[in-house]
Amino acid sequence: MRRPQERRHLITPRRLLALALALLGQNAANARIVESYPGEEIVAERIGDGIVQFHMNAEAKAARLPSLALVEAARYEGPMPEAFAVVPSFARDRAGRFVTSVTIEPGTSLYGTGQAGGELLRNGKVTEAWNTDAYGYGAKTKALYTSHPWVLAVRADGSAFGVLADTTYRVEIDLRSGITFRADGPAHPVIVIDGDGPRAVMESLGTLTGTIEMPPRWALGYHQCRYSYAPDDRVREVARGFRERAIPADVIWMDIDYMDGFRCFTFDAEGFPNPSALNAELDALGFSNVWMIDPGIKNEEGYFVHDQGDEINAWVQRPDGTPFTGDVWPGECVFPDFTRSDVREWWAGLYADFMANGIDGVWNDMNEPSVFNVESKTMPEDNHHGADIELGGPGPHARYHNVYGMLMVQASREGIMAANPDKRPFVLSRANYLGGHRYGATWTGDNTSNWAHVEMSIPMTLNLGLSGQPFVGPDLGGFIHDGTPEMYSRWFGFGSLLPFARGHTQKGNRDKEPWAYGPEIEATVRRALERRYRLMPLYYTLFEEAHRTGMPVARPVFFADPADARLRDVDNAFLLGDDLLIVADVSKRRGDAVVMPRGDWRGFDFPSFDGGRDSKDRDQARLFLRGGGIVPTGPVHQHFGDRPDQRDELTLLVALDSSGRAEGELYEDAGEGWGFREGDYLRTRYTAQRSGDVLRIDTETVGGVAPRSERTLSVRVLMEDGTELTGEGTDGRTIEIPLR
Ligand code: GLC
Repeated sequence: MRRPQERRHLITPRRLLALALALLGQNAANARIVESYPGEEIVAERIGDGIVQFHMNAEAKAARLPSLALVEAARYEGPMPEAFAVVPSFARDRAGRFVTSVTIEPGTSLYGTGQAGGELLRNGKVTEAWNTDAYGYGAKTKALYTSHPWVLAVRADGSAFGVLADTTYRVEIDLRSGITFRADGPAHPVIVIDGDGPRAVMESLGTLTGTIEMPPRWALGYHQCRYSYAPDDRVREVARGFRERAIPADVIWMDIDYMDGFRCFTFDAEGFPNPSALNAELDALGFSNVWMIDPGIKNEEGYFVHDQGDEINAWVQRPDGTPFTGDVWPGECVFPDFTRSDVREWWAGLYADFMANGIDGVWNDMNEPSVFNVESKTMPEDNHHGADIELGGPGPHARYHNVYGMLMVQASREGIMAANPDKRPFVLSRANYLGGHRYGATWTGDNTSNWAHVEMSIPMTLNLGLSGQPFVGPDLGGFIHDGTPEMYSRWFGFGSLLPFARGHTQKGNRDKEPWAYGPEIEATVRRALERRYRLMPLYYTLFEEAHRTGMPVARPVFFADPADARLRDVDNAFLLGDDLLIVADVSKRRGDAVVMPRGDWRGFDFPSFDGGRDSKDRDQARLFLRGGGIVPTGPVHQHFGDRPDQRDELTLLVALDSSGRAEGELYEDAGEGWGFREGDYLRTRYTAQRSGDVLRIDTETVGGVAPRSERTLSVRVLMEDGTELTGEGTDGRTIEIPLR
């Protein structure tokens, strides 16, 4: 095993600068440091390409807890590479916290840290990884619903590295002077990924923490939610409302009021007497359904979930071994101890009967876990978990708090899979932990209908994407308060293009369905959702890429040119993949600065279905295609099952680069089920090449064995002068388009 100090003689200019900065930074931090650990004792092991795991010393390595972030335990592959540039230092502060410091060079931009309020660029910010029911949160709230003790750093030259504090304990992430993690609990390993750019670092993070499973295609459509659509007739009315008005939507959500007195896995006999029939009717209307399940189980004898749990002592305990009780929706609750595999198995089993009601997806909420009647908003840190040895063995809530939600979603997902083995599960979870994207999607919790939250929704989504969770979006229209019609309209204008697109609002608020604000806003929202559905082939392709590689679906603009300092703090725009740039007006006053990446980006829009006002609709985000990019698009459909063969009708949007070339990919499969694992999918690379006065479009299958359908392939070429050329042919055959 090589030790970092053995190579300290390697004084590259970068390391010299880092050393100087370390000394400066340490002075500021020193006040609170009581013990520093000598660098020569640090154990540094290469655990992957450009990935090094550091332990404070050999004893800390021997005593380390299992990693719950990593998809599998880190394996020693050799000593730290000679040129490895990022070496953390370790210390203890006066509060007893384990402190990791990593210095950064001037010009380094910091991102990630999971769900974070405020701006995209995190330099100067202090947040906390401690899952919190942060109802009413703002830009400066320190701890939100999920924990991602992870920072992505992009250096001035566009190279990048990432630092992962591999602990489940509470961690303060201080980015005021370099990168500092202050963690409760014992010393923990720190993993550093060094890469030649942010893409490489994200892909390595995907290797370490796993990637999302392929979602069912319907989950990429628009979701309509509120707290709560009840009784069942209201659900029907809302679903019909979409179809009557031809507003695309795929999913409708059942919030807690469907339950009998907020008892999970029950249905209110009056409001929801026949959930199977309701789901069948929704299905006939082309709607998938999602139903909520919380962790708090009503502490009531005679309630079957309670009694079954009691039989196996399923509950999280006080230190004296009695079940912990705390108030949530149903009043006094007990809480399953998801750190125990027998409890997870029991919990998973509860989904068999539940899913048999024709349920498609599940929403796990309140799983920080949220507790109402205490100041901490959660259970005491000295509560006891009977965790499996693989997770680290029995221990206090302080150690398992941040993974409580993740383990719940894991159990839910397993139960859903067992109930419907031929379907891809969809679970949305409010709380989660680094790596928890393996089990479920997330949303940004109880946001507020105000402009600050409109502005926050892009950066928050992007930083979660940079923390491994690509399937994320905000409550469109805002959860708390009514907001204004203009705000609603603008929010949908860009928010419906974020990876997870769901409208939601709190009990007592005004109606917030797309038609609730009158015909003009209804038209704007319809157009926005039609754009999303037009881009569905691209979304699906990007979700498959996220599944395969760990790349986020929505990416910060600086991904287009990581060395361009101007792009590091762009908060009002994002990329879908590499080639499609979405630019929005997110502030009330409008006229937000537009910072475009260098190169050729061609503005475009889709033909309108209602009289051609699209490009004048100021609430729609602007769309730009990168010169050199090809983006696959499809027709507007009202929902996933609307066109049974999703492989039909394809239009390629093409923008040539200065050498007359462009390329892009398309991924297709059945949209459901597991056939893709056996090769029943098609990954296609389309290439456009100008040659004289002709543009030639070629098709190459780069993966999968699914047959290519004899579909019409249309091509829209966005020319430099703003004009467009179109052409048509058959997919799979070369298409030639005269350029004059
Ligand atoms: C929580 C959720 C919210 C949900 C409500 C009622 O506040 O964050 O989305 O509507 O609980 O279940």
